[in-house]
Order: sequence, then C-alpha cells, then structure tokens
Amino acid sequence: MTKRVVTLAHYYTQPEIQQMADKVGDSLELSLYAREAEADIIVFAGVRFMAETAKILNPQAEVILPDAGSTCSLVTQTDVAALKAWREEHADYVHVSYINSSAEHKALSDWIVTSRNVDDIIAHLYEQGKKVIFSPDRNMGAYLNYQYGYDMPLWSAVCEVHDKFNEAALNEALSAVTGKAHLIAHPESPLPVLKRADYVGSTSGMLNWVKQFKGSPEEVIFVATEDGILYNMSQARPDLDLRQAPIYAGCQCNSCPYMKMNTIEAVKRAQQGGGTHIDYLSTEQMDAARVPIERMLEFSQRYYA
Ligand code: 13P
Ligand code: SF4
Repeated sequence: MTKRVVTLAHYYTQPEIQQMADKVGDSLELSLYAREAEADIIVFAGVRFMAETAKILNPQAEVILPDAGSTCSLVTQTDVAALKAWREEHADYVHVSYINSSAEHKALSDWIVTSRNVDDIIAHLYEQGKKVIFSPDRNMGAYLNYQYGYDMPLWSAVCEVHDKFNEAALNEALSAVTGKAHLIAHPESPLPVLKRADYVGSTSGMLNWVKQFKGSPEEVIFVATEDGILYNMSQARPDLDLRQAPIYAGCQCNSCPYMKMNTIEAVKRAQQGGGTHIDYLSTEQMDAARVPIERMLEFSQRYYA
C-alpha cells in the first residue's frame, strides 16, 4: 500500500520548498497541521525542534527531517542540566518555554508558547496571580518584561539570526528613506530594535500586517526577521516597497542557515523516506513534553478559534 506523505514547510524555507509543501505556516500553524495530519509520513521542512514537536503530537506518523543539521541556536545554546537546576531554583514559578526548544526542555516546562500566543498566555498566567520564568529566548523575554512591566527571570539564549539586527544600522536605514518608513519585527530581535517597531509579532502576524497595510505604496516597510518571509509578503502585496531590515550597513543577509538546509534534493529524498527519522524520543519523553504543548494548543484553539 502506498504511504500517505504530508509535507509541511516553515515560511523561512526557500520559495521552491514552500511550493513542494502541502501546508506552509508559522510554528503554531505547523504544530496544529502536524497534530491533525492523516499521514503515514510527515516530512518537516523546518528545523529539528519543529519535527520533534510534530512527532510528539502525532506519534503514529513517521516524521522525517530532511537534513540532520537543521538545528536552532536557541536549542544549542541551552544546556538542559543547567536549565533543570534553574527551574528547581524557581520551584514556585510557572515555567513558560518558547517552542524553539528540545523535547527534554519542553518536558521541564509548564507551558509552551510560540511567538503568536506568548503575549496572551503570559497575560493569562499573570491574571491568575502566578509568577513566571521564561526560557530560552532572552530577547523575547526582555521584550515582554519591557512591554507589560513583568519581572520574569529569563534564561539567556538567543536566535543567532534575529540577534544580529541592530539599532544603529536600522536608524541609518530608516533615516535614508525620504518618505514614511515603517518597521515590523519578530520578537526574537534585540529590545532596542523592538522598541522602534510599529508592530512586533510572529511570522504569520507580520504577514497579516503586510496583507492589511492601508498606507500608500510609496511608504517603505522594513522587515526585521528571516529573509524567507519576504517571498510570502511580496507575493501577497506586490504593490508594496518591502525591505529586509539591515544587520549592519550594506548587509541584507538575514538568513537562517538551518532552515536553508532544506534543499530541494533533501526534501525530495525525505518524501521517499530518506533523511533523519525522529524515532529517538522515548514514550516517556514524548508524554512529558506533550502536556505543556497540548496546554498551549488548547488555549490557542479556545482564544483564536
Ligand atoms: P514563528 O513562531 O513565528 O514561526 O517563528 C519560529 C522561528 O524559528 C523564528 O525564528
Ligand atoms: Fe532558530 Fe533563529 Fe533559525 Fe528560527 S531563525 S530556527 S530561532 S536559528
């Protein structure tokens, strides 16, 4: 019997990879697709923590990551033994972890969040009088503390791509525009950049902002996130002047090396069953990691239905 293969791709993959996929989305959308997918094989054109999340949510499916090297700096910068000790030091806190984390990390968490629902989930916890610690993204945590006046203790890892955006280069780019200029940014960017942004949100959030933009086509929109999404934005609004926010003067190169490991050849091979099979997580690990992920999905479906 032929196997049912579903291919999922993150917005940061190359346009050709997105065209090969059944579904394209941000991490929250892809987690939901993975959970509901009626598939024997899920090819995950994204990074390892996303493929692991798919496996945890749909353990019956074979989940394949096209390239074994597709990691994420938020995962590699987090030592799980140190995280466990930090979590124990804050035993009376709720531990909220960003989805960009390993399965072991998730198992040490009370809630998982994505950049789409992090604001609402943490607000919900504070409304209930809880104390919160946030990991692993220091920039995202610093932004939440600044924006809402929280005092969450933060873990200290960064996205090596978004962390390169800097205020000086941005000021230079913004001041070189004669007309009106806007900035939209992913919350993995450094706080001084986020403070300047007209909109801060997830990949899909930024895409929706662009789709709904009502200003004139002469206005310039700088986008502080991975360059893959520029393709989706310009497909949706070819009339707009969309530009990658600079890293430093003259550089337009904000590309995630791990997402870009999803080459056409690697994805085709995965669709034939080759690549890294996510078959190394134990049932106990998956069960423990599923609890905080399901909590998030249930919250998201209730709030964003
Ligand atoms: P999204 O949750 O916006 O898809 O972001 C995932 C990611 O890895 C951003 O760098
Ligand atoms: Fe990780 Fe950054 Fe790449 Fe997203 S862009 S997968 S956070 S390294």
